[in-house]
Amino acid sequence: MKGAIFDLDGVITDTAKFHFAAWSQLASEKLGLKLPASFETELKGISRIESLERILDFGGLRDKYTAEQVEELAAEKNGYYLKAIDTLTKDDILPGITRLIGELKEHDVKLSVASASKNAPVILKKLGLFDKFDAIADPSKVEHGKPAPDIFLAGARAVSLDPKDCVGVEDAVAGVAAIKAANMTAVAVGDPEELGKADAVVPTTDDFSYALFEETWEKSRN
Ligand code: BG6
Ligand code: MG
Repeated sequence: MKGAIFDLDGVITDTAKFHFAAWSQLASEKLGLKLPASFETELKGISRIESLERILDFGGLRDKYTAEQVEELAAEKNGYYLKAIDTLTKDDILPGITRLIGELKEHDVKLSVASASKNAPVILKKLGLFDKFDAIADPSKVEHGKPAPDIFLAGARAVSLDPKDCVGVEDAVAGVAAIKAANMTAVAVGDPEELGKADAVVPTTDDFSYALFEETWEKSRN
């Protein structure tokens, strides 16, 4: 294993609740909808615009808004979201992640971020982790969102590595599919039933380690 390509939301810090709260606020204040709790999981890894399209579909409102209005609504949601994440500090880094980054660096593993979030650089700065990563792939520069492989391929390319030498790290079904489509080894955190396509699934981020990543990579390559 020469590289570890990380998802951000749900892997490095837990922002799903803030995304869901911001979408719920937009839905109730601007769309007259109440979002079911299942949307919190369903929208993990899904881009801002596609998330909004799914919400509009849920309310049968897709045809009611022009592309420009959809952009405006998405920007409004991002405003709520930015306000919510303003309080993030290094205390919001998920358990084990700082240790894991140290272990990977000790073994000269390149670190890259492959998040669907355009807010990834801002969040990494708030967490004090921005300088720990060798690269952050830009989701606005890739054609297809997760489950397509594009952002993970961009993450590997940004550190000049062949995807097969990389482990992708995810918490979302769409993200695991993206890693596998990129021909990388997938390590996931969460429910093994939901994330069964990954090469290894652990219950918490504190279970991540260099040893787990290396062993999973070795096995998946043979
Ligand atoms: C992903 C989240 O990391 O980023 C999604 O899991 C979110 O829920 C997506 O929609 C896009 O994020 P942002 O910050 O660009 O709106
Ligand atoms: Mg995620």
